[in-house]
Amino acid sequence: MAGNVASVMTDLETEDFHLLSGVEHGMRFSEWVDRGKLPEFSGLTREEVDYRLGRCLERKLVERKTIQYEGLRLRFAGYDALALRAFAKRDTIDGFGAPLGVGKESDVYEVRSYRSLALKFHREGYTNFREVNRERDYTADHDHVSWFYTARKAAEREYEVLEALYPDVRVPRPEDQNRHALVMELIDGVELSRTRLTDEQVRPICSAILSEMASAYRLGYVHADMSEYNVFVSEDGVTVFDWPQAVPTDHENARDLLERDVENLLGYFERKYPGKLGDVDVTSLVEAVATDSFDGLGSYAG
Ligand SMILES: Nc1ncnc2c1ncn2[C@@H]1O[C@H](COP(=O)(O)OP(=O)(O)OP(=O)(O)O)[C@@H](O)[C@H]1O
Ligand SMILES: [Mg+2]
Repeated sequence: MAGNVASVMTDLETEDFHLLSGVEHGMRFSEWVDRGKLPEFSGLTREEVDYRLGRCLERKLVERKTIQYEGLRLRFAGYDALALRAFAKRDTIDGFGAPLGVGKESDVYEVRSYRSLALKFHREGYTNFREVNRERDYTADHDHVSWFYTARKAAEREYEVLEALYPDVRVPRPEDQNRHALVMELIDGVELSRTRLTDEQVRPICSAILSEMASAYRLGYVHADMSEYNVFVSEDGVTVFDWPQAVPTDHENARDLLERDVENLLGYFERKYPGKLGDVDVTSLVEAVATDSFDGLGSYAG
């Protein structure tokens, strides 16, 4: 999806972006934007709309559906293009690189500016959206902007959390955010799930992650999706990433979510490295993490 955008970005012209912005604007009011409204929404003449629309349809940035009227809406690639354009305009990025991770809820790419960075496009809501709409009349106007809205909210949320935590917690340094996308430091490491630690490394690495969780809690957040897939390990330590679902510590479930995070992490180490953590007293460990008095697994593991 975004691979397509990277290649079309170079041949998109200013007026193409006006058209895309016009469609985006119209989608605040209805899922399918009436073609007749596009001159007003985009600030382009009717002839220019025809021409630009042709180009954007051809490049699969928008899609068309004739209901009672001719309707248009952005595809994710069109939304990607608008975000990339915003980043390029404010010099956050000037080149697009290789995919770093393409999943169901996000696409992450290496991008370049004065140095290499990571760009994450949130896709939350998209899969659900398709699920839901298969079941019912496609033209029904419920939840008409749900996927854009959900994905944008997730990016905003993740950026906000990174800003609150960096640099006290080892998270990627946040650089910029626009629409459903955020730009952050490119982490040079290996996902915990893909590392094979030596027996001597197991406790210190697990402790290092718990200690980041304690710092995050002190600064007001529980990760709430802690797993071996959301931690990078490198020569100089651990980095915890993927924060859009983080929950504030004053939330009524914060403590339970912290406990679940701790259990997920310990469970992973226990399965992969049986017996290497020792016999951990989870209750006092969670208490220590929540009160920022955690000082290494040694005190909680026999
Ligand atoms: N800052 C970064 N630097 C380098 N690689 C990254 C960075 N952020 C994410 N990645 C890569 O992209 C992948 C997906 O990122 P992330 O975990 O944040 O998204 P996700 O929402 O979990 O995606 P999915 O829906 O696939 O689970 C990661 O597993 C990682 O390999
Ligand atoms: Mg993840």
